[in-house]
Amino acid sequence: MGPSNPTLTWEGDVGGYVSMIDQTRLPQELLYVAIRDKEAMWDAIQRLVIRGAPAIGVAAAYGVVLGAQEFEGSDVHLFQKHVRSVMDYLATSRPTAVNLFWALERMRTRLKALDGQDPRDQKAALFLESCLIHQEDKAICAELGRVGAQLVESGDTLLTHCNAGALATGGSGTALSVMFHAHEEGRRFRVFVDETRPLLQGSRLTAWELMQAGINATLICDNMAAHAMKTQGITRIFVGADRIAANGDACNKIGTYGVAIAAQAHNIPFYIVAPKSTFDLSLSTGAEIPIEERASEEITAFYGHRCAPEDVQTWSPAFDVTPHQLITGIVTEKGLISPLSPEAIEETLNS
Ligand code: MRU
Repeated sequence: MGPSNPTLTWEGDVGGYVSMIDQTRLPQELLYVAIRDKEAMWDAIQRLVIRGAPAIGVAAAYGVVLGAQEFEGSDVHLFQKHVRSVMDYLATSRPTAVNLFWALERMRTRLKALDGQDPRDQKAALFLESCLIHQEDKAICAELGRVGAQLVESGDTLLTHCNAGALATGGSGTALSVMFHAHEEGRRFRVFVDETRPLLQGSRLTAWELMQAGINATLICDNMAAHAMKTQGITRIFVGADRIAANGDACNKIGTYGVAIAAQAHNIPFYIVAPKSTFDLSLSTGAEIPIEERASEEITAFYGHRCAPEDVQTWSPAFDVTPHQLITGIVTEKGLISPLSPEAIEETLNS
């Protein structure tokens, strides 16, 4: 289900490397790059060669294996210390998507359990754990699609923001998996795609993925979304998330909050689609979510062309938080959570 080009794959055995689509080159060029060490993985995550919360998690887990490969020798304790430092390093690549920290924590737990074993065996076990994280993500994406597709009807006009597709995960996506699944089941609908300034994940990636799947996609600029809701008969909105607090406040690509406000004003159901690994129940509200700020060049230039005065002041938050009151429901692999409450979230995630 979804596009046939895998976002990332591990090539070879425990001594292998990661091959991933360079998403900065899409849609002009479908180019795979080889990521052979932890520094290259850090850079790929930071530069958005690979992006999207679940995909960042899978990439980070593989990054731990790449970092572990560097270790030579048989000292068990030095190996453990080395791998812990690899994890700390990868954790600095991007701050907002909790899937990054979730995947690193899972690798850390596995590492702890391996303490005392020969480093070669530990490397092999860490490799297996990273493959498992990737495999599970594929299965979870499929389940998100299955659960969410029940909300889509033939004749719907949907809207999405940013890219929550196969490119953002190790499988078929989150919000787009819902659309791929509904389409596979034979329902026909139209999707408005916000271009998603500043880095155009909507126009470059989401439009590309939907068109490959044969789904009727219409690209709009972000500032057209409210007008589209008023005039184009939009029936439902599906977006992904990078971190969801215990009360249901959901952090996603900058602009999502505005889409949710406009959706409420037009009485349009607004759904988040996200796996359990995107929830951060240690945070009681979205106000505690760290918001990444990115380089000013990302907004003073448009596709390589300067579009603002030299030395203009900038502010470039990459994400915003949609308050739970604006969210109709959250589609998870454990089922739909609607209406949202801390209790309903906890109960569904623990089911
Ligand atoms: O900066 P990005 O491209 O990593 O931001 C991605 C998003 O905001 C996605 O909507 C989110 O990660 C959900 S991905 C399934």
